[in-house]
Amino acid sequence: MSSILITGATAGIGKSIAYSLAKRGYNLVLTGRRLGRLKEISEDISALHAVEVKVLANDLTKKEAPQQIKDFCTENNLDIEMLVLNAGYQHSQKLEDVSLEDEEDCLRVLAISVIMIFKVFLKDLLKRGGGKLMVVSSVAAFAPPSTAIAPLYGPIKTFMNRFVDTVNAGYNKNNIYATSLCPGFTVTEFHAVSGTQDRMNKVPSFFKMSSDFVAEEGVKGMLKNKELVIPGKHYWFLVNILKFFPLSIIKFIGNKISGDRFK
Ligand SMILES: NC(=O)c1ccc[n+]([C@@H]2O[C@H](COP(=O)([O-])OP(=O)(O)OC[C@H]3O[C@@H](n4cnc5c(N)ncnc54)[C@H](OP(=O)(O)O)[C@@H]3O)[C@@H](O)[C@H]2O)c1
Repeated sequence: MSSILITGATAGIGKSIAYSLAKRGYNLVLTGRRLGRLKEISEDISALHAVEVKVLANDLTKKEAPQQIKDFCTENNLDIEMLVLNAGYQHSQKLEDVSLEDEEDCLRVLAISVIMIFKVFLKDLLKRGGGKLMVVSSVAAFAPPSTAIAPLYGPIKTFMNRFVDTVNAGYNKNNIYATSLCPGFTVTEFHAVSGTQDRMNKVPSFFKMSSDFVAEEGVKGMLKNKELVIPGKHYWFLVNILKFFPLSIIKFIGNKISGDRFK
């Protein structure tokens, strides 16, 4: 049975992507740490749409997590045709205040697990004649690194965009297509989890998007094999126009719309 794997499906953008794909008739494998939530979401989706939903509690800070996901899919005879690698969080502290262990955990969830999950499924994707990868990145990939909070977040997302480029460069010939979904501020649990809800509250409402909107844009882009999806015309405009401005102006505008992220 062909299915789509979604990481971080218990909340926010990942959960919205699950509903967006289920309404199009795709079977799903949903992962996250909170099994209770995964079961609730699975029951709700199954009641709404005629699709099969499997769930797996899985902590992506663990080195063995990608292989566990692969083993689960193999044991359940699931033919994974698309990977939506979305799970993530950020630290609200400065570099010197995050312990080595916490930094490594975050790097593993945001980047290493993405590469490893793709790698453990790659041979199967090649054997089945193709597939798709969506990495949920961020507009932070295009912004200057934040000096106030999560200084590694933007650079890691830039790395993920380049990973998507690498997959496309190496595997489009094998009918494997990768998409970077780069949302701006999206109303999810992300800011409360990372202790930055106060900054998010200062962001003008014009710049806040719903997770359903972001998911829908991402899914449409992935199904059309788009390499880059930036939901919201205003964000697309910002990302493109900022290339022509000096860093000082970018930081000034960034501080106005993102709660003093660059101070
Ligand atoms: N919200 C924004 O403004 C925004 C903007 C740009 C990009 N993004 C990106 O969008 C993605 C999704 O974030 P979101 O905004 O939807 O946040 P969210 O509502 O907090 O959801 C994050 C998801 O990641 C999962 N997750 C976190 N740590 C995990 C771990 N150790 N192992 C497995 N799963 C883990 C969570 O599941 P469990 O807690 O159940 O494990 C949850 O399902 C992230 O990659 C984020 O960087 C967000």
